[in-house]
Amino acid sequence: MNIPESYNQLDQWTTVMFLYNSALKAISTKIEILNNEFIHLYNYNPIEHIKSRLKTPESIVKKLKRNGREVTIANMTEYLSDIAGIRIICSFTSDIYRIADLIARQSDITVLYVKDYISRPKPNGYKSYHMVVTVPIYLSEGPVDTRVEIQIRTIAMDFWASLEHKIYYKFEGNAPANLEAELKACADMVDMLDAKMFSLNQAIMKISEEQRAGREHSGQPSGGEAE
Ligand code: GTP
Ligand code: MG
Repeated sequence: MNIPESYNQLDQWTTVMFLYNSALKAISTKIEILNNEFIHLYNYNPIEHIKSRLKTPESIVKKLKRNGREVTIANMTEYLSDIAGIRIICSFTSDIYRIADLIARQSDITVLYVKDYISRPKPNGYKSYHMVVTVPIYLSEGPVDTRVEIQIRTIAMDFWASLEHKIYYKFEGNAPANLEAELKACADMVDMLDAKMFSLNQAIMKISEEQRAGREHSGQPSGGEAE
């Protein structure tokens, strides 16, 4: 990220945070457009909701120190990938890969790296699809490629992750073994729930499709079905 060197620290900080905030807006808009297109084309919304956040100055300083880096604006833009973060919550695992692919294929987006904790869950049971991308933000002096961390997961995975996060913080990483084992067991239930909800949805779609074909065959109007 190129910030004019003539800027003083405060101007640099303001500019950097303005860029990250703009990048959140740019990516959120792209995702909303994809979701709206799905609704328009297929009467189906793959995204349940989107959350976005900027990392707080306290967390930025903490993470740089934890990583043994000097606390500078240059280090923060170079070494931290999650200053701008977006979380996309989908209904089904298949939607996650579809959304990820559609984001990655946009010509102004560069995917820096992907961590697929769905095909390879973390040992604690954590599942989520992570992408770190850059998106150009057009300032008057020209475009600045700005990094955003995108996390994509199902409602069930998100439910698990938020509870795990709470437990992790509560015990500062040293949770009792039985809690860890129970969490792992819950992660397996999340897998089962996601698989079951997916097959139920497939069955519902098949029935809707048969009903539509039946109506068309008998010459009745098909009518739009919500969701
Ligand atoms: P961080 O330094 O924690 O950002 O990890 P990283 O740079 O190695 O990247 P990774 O893709 O593994 O994790 C990025 C983010 O995903 C984290 O900041 C968390 O928000 C989330 N995350 C990763 N692992 C876990 C986990 O085990 N439990 C929960 N609840 N969230 C996780
Ligand atoms: Mg992080």
